[in-house]
Amino acid sequence: MLSRKLTLTIAILLGLPCQISAVPLDEPIKPIPTQPTQDPGRAELGRQLFHDVRLSANNSVSCVSCHDLKNGGADSRDHSVGFSGTLTGVNAPTVFNAALNFKQFWNGRADSLEAQIDAVIQNSVEMGSAWADVVAKVSQDSKYQAAFAAAYPDAVTQANIQNAIATFERTLITPNSRFDQYLGGDSNALSADEKAGYLKFKQYGCALAAMEMEGSLTAHSDGPGKGTIFALEVPLKSPGGGL
Ligand code: HEC
Repeated sequence: MLSRKLTLTIAILLGLPCQISAVPLDEPIKPIPTQPTQDPGRAELGRQLFHDVRLSANNSVSCVSCHDLKNGGADSRDHSVGFSGTLTGVNAPTVFNAALNFKQFWNGRADSLEAQIDAVIQNSVEMGSAWADVVAKVSQDSKYQAAFAAAYPDAVTQANIQNAIATFERTLITPNSRFDQYLGGDSNALSADEKAGYLKFKQYGCALAAMEMEGSLTAHSDGPGKGTIFALEVPLKSPGGGL
């Protein structure tokens, strides 16, 4: 059998097209992985709930009000506007790739998407609801009733509402960006300026700081992103107290 090098040399000499497979870079940041397929019935329910203002106390805001999926998964505001017009204490991060976070919220106070949903539904600024009211409103909708009964053995419950929204959020993954391709070994995927910027990012210790922070927090985490920093998911969490 011809060695790879010899094959390449012959191919080059003969002017044949030859495929050199890209070797992933050994970098502190890893490419966004493709996610396993989610249960379609549950994800669709979650998509509807994500857009449903009935999750808020006065039927005024939905998740998408502050996490606009057509606008990068956030609202471009310094402070988001809650259900009663009160501003949140911090800005809304994107929900894209949030499923890969090992902690949720700027200060990492929620361990999972489900815990984050529990907090935001009841938060006195954001949605201001009580779970009993949310479960009642969802149960009264015959379309939700049927879809929940098909997707979950115990139909509409608080846990199933949380699970459906979290399942939808697990579909909001953005693999294969140019930066992902670069990390995957395609050195042409970034421009010279972009590569210089990434080098500066590492030289300034941003990647190291992110890893140190992760090291201090992952001890309590068993989420899907544990122990890994993903492209676009470098934690820029502020030490602030959150909402
Ligand atoms: C009124 C605006 C508003 C609404 C409504 C809202 N959010 Fe948020 N969301 C925020 C803000 C602000 C934060 C950051 C809060 C913090 O870190 O203390 C946040 C944080 C998050 C995070 C954490 C992301 C990260 O990188 O840490 C997720 C996930 C999220 N929201 C999902 C949802 C879902 C799901 C809903 C609906 C059930 C929802 N949000 C409703 C404003 C909102």
